[in-house]
This record gives sequence, C-alpha cells and structure tokens, in this order.
Amino acid sequence: MKGVILAGGLGSRLFPCTKITNKHLLPVYDRPMIHYPIESLVGAGIRDILIVTGGNYAGHFLQLLGNGKEFGLKELHYTYQEGEGGIADALRLAEDFADGERLCVVLGDNILERSIRGAVEAYEAQAGGARILVKKVSDPQRFGVPVFDGRRIVRIEEKPARPQSSYAVTGIYFYDRQVFEMISQLSPSARGELEISDVNNMYIERGQLEWSEIEGWWTDAGTFPSLLRASQLIAQGGANRP
Ligand code: DAU
Repeated sequence: MKGVILAGGLGSRLFPCTKITNKHLLPVYDRPMIHYPIESLVGAGIRDILIVTGGNYAGHFLQLLGNGKEFGLKELHYTYQEGEGGIADALRLAEDFADGERLCVVLGDNILERSIRGAVEAYEAQAGGARILVKKVSDPQRFGVPVFDGRRIVRIEEKPARPQSSYAVTGIYFYDRQVFEMISQLSPSARGELEISDVNNMYIERGQLEWSEIEGWWTDAGTFPSLLRASQLIAQGGANRP
C-alpha cells in the first residue's frame, strides 16, 4: 500500500499566519504540522509516500523534508496542486504515483494519538473498495458526518447544519484504484470544491465502504482552536511517533 498526504489549499482559516507560509509548515507543539501525517504513515509501515502541496511556499517542503531521511525513508515524492480545488482535486494528482495500487490517504492537518497500523491491516484484508475512519466528536457540524442505519453507514453529509450522528469522518481514507474514475465524475460543490465526501458516497452506493473507529484521540489542526488543541494534546500525551 502506498501513502498520500494532502497538504495543498490556502489555509484561509489560519490567516494571517498562512499568508507567509503553508498551513502544514506551522508548528504543532514541537514540530511542523506535516511531520505528524508522515509519522502516522511510516509508523504503520507505509514507506512509499507522495506529498501533494500547493500555494506559494511549496519549495519550503523540500527544504524541510528533503528525501525523508529523518523519518527513515530513502525518498519522498512530491507533486503540486494548482489552485485549491478541494481534497478530491488534490488526490486526483496521485493517480500516476498510485499506479493501480491501493492507497492510504491522510489529510495534512490531521493528527492522531495512536498508530493506524490496525486500520491498514483491516484494509489489506478487505477485498477492495474503501475504508474510512470515524471518531466521536462534540462538534460534528465542522466535518463530514456519517449517517448510520444500525452499524451500516448509508450516507455521509459534509458539514451538515443538523448532524445525524455525533461522529466525524476523519481525514484518513483507504481507497482502491476506482477512486480516480470516481473523482473524474465529480462536479464542484457549493463551496467550489471537489468533495471527498462525494467520493465516499459513491463507494457507499457501490456497497463498498467499510469503516472503523479510531482509538485514542484524533484532531484536525486547520482552525485556531483546533491548532491550539492539537498542540495541547501532543504536549500532554505525545502523538503517534515512530
Ligand atoms: O479533518 C477531517 C475533515 O476534512 C472531514 O471530516 C471532511 O469531510 C473533509 O471535507 C475535510 O474538511 P475540512 O473543511 O476541514 O478540509 P480542509 O479544507 O481544511 O482541508 C483539509 C486538508 O486537505 C488540508 O489540510 C490540505 C488538504 N487540501 C484541501 C484543499 C481544500 C488540499 O490538499 N487541497 C485543497 O484544495
């Protein structure tokens, strides 16, 4: 399985800080945000990693990470997203890198306490399709929210005003090669982006979406309150580190 980290976008919810750097290079406690998703993938045994970035500071990723020696990697792959067309638009750029293999996709601002190795193994045991990871949260309206029928997810609603469950779809996704054909069928949402929730809903329609719940804490870090929370959680308990 290969790994893809999506670290594009303008990070406008962190203006003015993101006027002078990329969101994923901002510090989360004692290291740049981008370190955490790399550590999550490497800690789960995924060593072939593509970073999709964008905006004005893409070169800084190379300066910071180089070939990933610090993480025990021989090389890191990079690609560049023009504009900020959404998460699915950024993922589209990974098609050649994936070369038909299965992917573990991690959003560059998602930070986890524990290893995702169990989820990687669960996905490897799946015949195909997709797998998402969910987590109970106090503010589901900020996220993609799964709608359950018993234990089955029947739909995912992106940032619903009235959430149908108290779970967030986290930014850790497992996809097979179908994902690229699905992305090619997407149209931009009301916020002008190709939505990853639309991709997940297509897998649901095909009866091919599995899920599991994340153990330990999980947070995004894309707003000032969540960035602070992420730093506090790491300072208190450490994060998944190799
Ligand atoms: O954190 C989990 C949530 O992430 C999910 O629950 C939502 O379903 C999903 O849509 C996403 O929501 P956000 O609105 O928080 O996503 P955001 O726009 O902050 O983007 C998250 C990451 O995706 C960002 O850190 C970098 C990457 N990204 C985003 C955009 C819009 C790109 O690489 N390119 C992009 O154009």
